[in-house]
Amino acid sequence: EQSFEIRSSLLDWYDNNQRDLPWRKTTTCSDRAYAVWVSEIMLQQTRVDTVIRYFIRWIHKWPTLVHLSHASLEEVNQMWAGLGYYRRARFLLEGAKFIVQQGGHFPTTLSELRKVPGIGDYTAGAIASIAFQQAVPVVDGNVVRVIARLKTISANPKDSTTVKAMWKLAGQLVDPDRPGDFNQALMELGATVCTLHNPSCSTCPVSGQCRALSVSINDRSVSVKDY
Ligand code: ADE
Repeated sequence: EQSFEIRSSLLDWYDNNQRDLPWRKTTTCSDRAYAVWVSEIMLQQTRVDTVIRYFIRWIHKWPTLVHLSHASLEEVNQMWAGLGYYRRARFLLEGAKFIVQQGGHFPTTLSELRKVPGIGDYTAGAIASIAFQQAVPVVDGNVVRVIARLKTISANPKDSTTVKAMWKLAGQLVDPDRPGDFNQALMELGATVCTLHNPSCSTCPVSGQCRALSVSINDRSVSVKDY
């Protein structure tokens, strides 16, 4: 099965090349779900390089969900200054208050996570897989591009039916033993190797499984970028 090879190549690559990011260290974060949640919300519209320092400051000020739940909207907005899309900060505050009101246990399943204000399919999948090791997919713009190239899917990536199909494919691809690492590896591959322009196919761990690359080699009128 092809998924097998994609999983093992991608996880090997991730083990040797993953970026050193503060939310990936248990030492920085006593509550992993909280850390994953904050980082994924920050990462939704902001580059990793910028998120790092905001994340560190945020966790320093509010080390746990309970600390955050006692913050004011002014404080979270102030902490967010410069990141843009301020509704993300408000959602974090509202979400923290919601979870604390419900008893303070971070929800662990997709359907429970989706009930938290501001947590959609993407964030629910990220928390469930990265913090709770559930074999569920995570699809962002980078993942759509990687899968489109691996499988030579040329449908419009912004089309909702395409995105739906991508969630299904990503769900079949996710590694059942290391779902959180697998999802992060796929996102990281898209951000650093399988980029929109000038993808680095020569250093790509899954180039041997990539249909877009084999098509572009066999038909020189087609490029990996076309997918
Ligand atoms: N982009 C968004 N979330 C990410 C994560 N957890 N790892 C790598 N890239 C990401």
